[in-house]
Amino acid sequence: MRNLIDIADLSPAEIDDLIRLAGDMRAHPADYRESQRGRILATLFFEPSTRTRLSFESAMLSMGGGVLGFASADSSSTAKGESLQDTIRTVSCYCDLIAMRHPKEGAPIAASLKSEVPIINAGDGGHNHPTQTLTDLMTIHREKGTFSGLTVGLCGDLKFGRTVHSLVTAMSRYPGVRFVMISPQELRLPGYLIQQLAVQGIPYAEVERMEDVLPELDILYMTRVQRERFFNEADYVRLKDTYILTPEKMQLAGPNLRVMHPLPRVNEISPKVDADPRAVYFEQVRNGRYIRMALITRLLEEVQ
Ligand code: NCD
Repeated sequence: MRNLIDIADLSPAEIDDLIRLAGDMRAHPADYRESQRGRILATLFFEPSTRTRLSFESAMLSMGGGVLGFASADSSSTAKGESLQDTIRTVSCYCDLIAMRHPKEGAPIAASLKSEVPIINAGDGGHNHPTQTLTDLMTIHREKGTFSGLTVGLCGDLKFGRTVHSLVTAMSRYPGVRFVMISPQELRLPGYLIQQLAVQGIPYAEVERMEDVLPELDILYMTRVQRERFFNEADYVRLKDTYILTPEKMQLAGPNLRVMHPLPRVNEISPKVDADPRAVYFEQVRNGRYIRMALITRLLEEVQ
């Protein structure tokens, strides 16, 4: 049985296949309207979510399947003290596939040991978020036609931003990719990921000012400062507005830059940037539904 815990669980060839299938689903949604009739997806969200949970549910409903689940831990028996293992054992009796989000790093692996159905990691603490990365990869591929040779700027909370961690792992596998990490000292990319880049000989730079590097980027991946992962509020308040992308700053970038953000945004991208054709974060939102349709389809094929 196949789970998606880490983006590296999928080979580049499998990712290509998912992007191709998702592209066809986006172009011809009617062809897939009944393709999961009779199947059930459970979405178990122990942490807040708008896009990830609703795009999973929309994906399953768009293919004629059913969905069940909960959107917060306090509406499940977790509030009565039930263990994650028991919750998963239970829910896996009711469905064919589970997408789960949990504040504890590693919770999806623990869940997969008890589950009778495949587990999809929909975000585990400050660790990983592989399905956001699939969304990001589909968007990059549609915008750029390739992953190779791109200079990818990652900006904001690179320490706690789980979407960044999965994206670095995924993009590291393509030739000629270069990373520019833009963050305050306190929010630098975790050491294990820096080490991973160093060992693989992948070029990267770490800088603090966004303005200096904007002209050289193909992708600027903005992130929110992850308030819920800070130990104290004062540090969050001090760091939260370190980077604010504005139309003035966008003038420093080239015409082929694409601005991405997993969303939700707080202050880090001015809404005035939304009208810029280089801003593609709502395109990511759109792609998120189709890439999840493709993922559900492939995972359920394997358990047929
Ligand atoms: C992200 C997450 O949950 O990690 N959101 C998402 O799934 N698109 C990003 C964030 O919360 O900042």
